[in-house]
Amino acid sequence: MVASEAAPFAKTGGLADVVRALPRALARLGHCVDVVIPRYRGIEAGEPMAPVTVPLGGQVAEATIHAVADAGVRTIFVGHPGYFDRDHVYGAAGRDYPDNPERFAFLSRAALEWAASSGERYDAVHAHDWQAGLVPVLARQFMAHALRGVPAVFTIHNLAYQGVFDASWLLRLGLGWELMNVNALEYWNRISLLKGGIVFSRLITTVSPRYAREIQTPEYGFGFDGILRSRSADLVGILNGIDYDLWDPARDPYLPESFDASRLEGKAAAKRMVLEMFGLPADEKARKRPLVGMISRLVDQKGFDLLAELSDELPQLDASFVLLGAGELRYEDFWRALAARHPERVAAKFGYDEAMAHRIEGGADLFLMPSRFEPCGLNQMYSLRYGTVPLVRATGGLRDTVRNVDPATGSGTGFTFDEYSSQALLTTLRRALGVWVAWWLGGWVVSNLAT
Ligand code: ADP
Ligand code: GLC
Repeated sequence: MVASEAAPFAKTGGLADVVRALPRALARLGHCVDVVIPRYRGIEAGEPMAPVTVPLGGQVAEATIHAVADAGVRTIFVGHPGYFDRDHVYGAAGRDYPDNPERFAFLSRAALEWAASSGERYDAVHAHDWQAGLVPVLARQFMAHALRGVPAVFTIHNLAYQGVFDASWLLRLGLGWELMNVNALEYWNRISLLKGGIVFSRLITTVSPRYAREIQTPEYGFGFDGILRSRSADLVGILNGIDYDLWDPARDPYLPESFDASRLEGKAAAKRMVLEMFGLPADEKARKRPLVGMISRLVDQKGFDLLAELSDELPQLDASFVLLGAGELRYEDFWRALAARHPERVAAKFGYDEAMAHRIEGGADLFLMPSRFEPCGLNQMYSLRYGTVPLVRATGGLRDTVRNVDPATGSGTGFTFDEYSSQALLTTLRRALGVWVAWWLGGWVVSNLAT
């Protein structure tokens, strides 16, 4: 597998969780998986191995190689001081590094060179997202001998990120001009590395069945629906799983007390801790109020424009709100201002904080994910595991994982709404809060957690 992130070494979103969890799950099924990621600044893990020579656009550079094995999975780190020894993974101050095509072409080529020199015989090469989109392209173009006949699988974790660059990159990366072709990398007179992954792979997967269908429509296809429809026979949606070794309230080191379906006191302790750490009131009255949590990249995809339209309504609800997020400054500004106006009800923390993410999953009563689109989404699944009721827009993987509660029978696992509007979100929030106390008393959360 080749990817730009893998937890715990480098993570900006769910891709990293999946690139950690999936190889381990495959290893448990008896497969041997090598995962190749960049050796970004700060990664200390791994023993040094022989470097590999990486030709790229008429130049030849050396990639250092480090390797570490854990839980049956070997992780290979590709190092290069110019490309990967930087402050950030993709870019600084909201702007991508301008040489990202070169950085990730280097990763892709180095991964293949390493695989060819490793002496292993691989059954498949699996590339994730646009950053690894050149892996299947290069495997066909340059590695005919070493990886001959090895089929490529490409996984789309998020079609919104397409790796589109000026066509002049083709020559700079040493790729033939024949790839500037509508059946290859060409995309509206530019090139797309995501398209390379889609076109040159034997199979294409994405991270939920629903999203696999959605991305073949103009509404969710982001210009790629035609390309994906032309490959629909080879496109399959496989729902992500989550790693219960890392996300389990019964043995989560970040929680003040462990809990499970039969011992829910620990959940109350986590709630109190979250309220206190966010500086919200934590007296008995405040603790009885439902706590609505959010952990998210602060980007359009996640529905923050809907929440922004509800700045007057949210604080009127009988609930407390906590947000942990990193991303676009305009959304940070919005939440900072909202929290300043309503310090008793709304609090936000900005930046990346793994421990706090676990505590919010543990302590919140409702988890909010009103995404405009969502390929899979992991936090709603973590929420289900932590007895935290998800409230989501029924799109993509959210639709596949959260069953709307049926008021007549009480069955279901959360609250969903269809229309992408602030009114639909507000109505659903009111619905959830309206029945929260009754369900809590009736033990609904307990049975939800147990299933
Ligand atoms: P996406 O990959 O689109 O961001 P997912 O729901 O698939 O969405 O995965 C997000 C992952 O990133 C989850 O593990 C979530 O806990 C984590 N995460 C997002 N933002 C933060 C943050 N600010 N601090 C800690 N973890 C975060
Ligand atoms: C992407 C998607 C998210 C998905 C994750 C892991 O970042 O936005 O929905 O869960 O990849 O596949």
